Amino acid sequence: STTLRPRLTVIGTGYLGATHAICMAVLGFDVIGVDVDADKVARLNSGEVPFFEPGLPELLTKALETGRLRFTTSFREAGEFGDVHFICVGTPQRGDSGAADLTYVDASVTALSRHLHRRALVVGKSTVPVGTAARLAELIRATAPAGDQVELAWNPEFLREGFAVDDTMRPDRLVFGVTSAWSEERLRAAFEPVLAQGVPVKVTDLQTAELVKVAANSFLATKISYINAMAEVCEATGADVRDLAEALAYDERIGGRFLRPGLGFGGGCLPKDIRAFAHRAEELGVGQAVGFLREIDGINKRRRSRTVDLVVELCGGDVAGKKIAALGASFKPDSDDIRDAPALEVASTLAGLGAHVHVFDPAAMENARRAHPELSYGTGALDVARGADVVVLLTEWTEFREIAPEAMAQVVGARRIFDGRHALDSGAWRAAGWEYRALGRP
Ligand code: UGA
Repeated sequence: STTLRPRLTVIGTGYLGATHAICMAVLGFDVIGVDVDADKVARLNSGEVPFFEPGLPELLTKALETGRLRFTTSFREAGEFGDVHFICVGTPQRGDSGAADLTYVDASVTALSRHLHRRALVVGKSTVPVGTAARLAELIRATAPAGDQVELAWNPEFLREGFAVDDTMRPDRLVFGVTSAWSEERLRAAFEPVLAQGVPVKVTDLQTAELVKVAANSFLATKISYINAMAEVCEATGADVRDLAEALAYDERIGGRFLRPGLGFGGGCLPKDIRAFAHRAEELGVGQAVGFLREIDGINKRRRSRTVDLVVELCGGDVAGKKIAALGASFKPDSDDIRDAPALEVASTLAGLGAHVHVFDPAAMENARRAHPELSYGTGALDVARGADVVVLLTEWTEFREIAPEAMAQVVGARRIFDGRHALDSGAWRAAGWEYRALGRP
């Protein structure tokens, strides 16, 4: 019944939008991806994914071969083509207040709406402050030639970078924030192949759907900062946070996921989402209810400064002139995303203290070089470790976990390692003559 399927457009071709457009085409929909960046559009049309995401390049090739997917800069083309339009543009942090910058959301909804001449559904996927959807619904009604024939729904996205394809094809749940039965029916049609696998759907109003997203990310951030707070207490007592976390995880009510202590969370989502949520709650007069989010943010930032302090300590109190090998730049493994990456903040702070920091990352070198020209870059873990006074593991890529301590011992200047992600077997490294340090462990 492919013919009954709605035709889809996806506005914004970043990590979220490109993945959504490609997966939907692979699932059998006719899809147009739209971006204002002509270069990105050209690259996608030629089969190149402009960022690192495992499995996605193969799917893009497959989707383009079916002829069901194309990318364009034209909102007119998208407006005339689509029955259901997904808004997937970014909502970065605006200045220091933590407020979300809705410039891209507003601009893309406006540009699209001008070309909506018949009944259609616009679906917001971007992470926004609660209340945005209601405002956008007004904006669409006022801008679209089809007026109130165009409805707005909210369908928050929970995909993780590095697992984007799996999370899109087999999400834990779908949330449909809708204002009419028609919107719900359209969304069900737009996700029919995903729903056919038994994925649960929660249907809500618009504001609840907006909130599910920020509440979920806030919970995850809280869980990470909770275990990192415990790491601070462990350090003051000689206790071991890794053992503590493992022991907690056996309690199924707590669970071990997102309970990995270390350098803390970064990326384009968790840090800015908790700040935007706190800011929005303050605007709504309920700042007190989520005041703990400021604390969560503070704990997370302290992980970075504590890491710098420990590395300085490992170097005998001063890193000026010291050679530091930094393993990792991306905010997490299997990603080339360096937005708010703890790894790069630590590396550049150490460079600011006069250290010679040599960075290697399996995927994020190009992005890191552009953002941090003050750092040096090498060709591999052993390459940057040559002659190093200290090796600092900042992102837990599998290839770093698998480094043999004996092999690295051959090239370094001094056998000192700081494991910022609790990724290494401390016993094996110590047995090979290394001084091993980690946050929250003796
Ligand atoms: C996060 C959420 O997990 C997704 O559900 C959500 O859709 C996404 O944000 C978003 O809002 O777009 P993502 O930013 O891709 O996904 O990365 P995560 O896997 O959540 O990791 C975030 C950070 O937390 C990383 O820096 C990671 O190293 C850190 N982390 C994660 C820990 O320090 N400890 C943990 O136990 C888990």
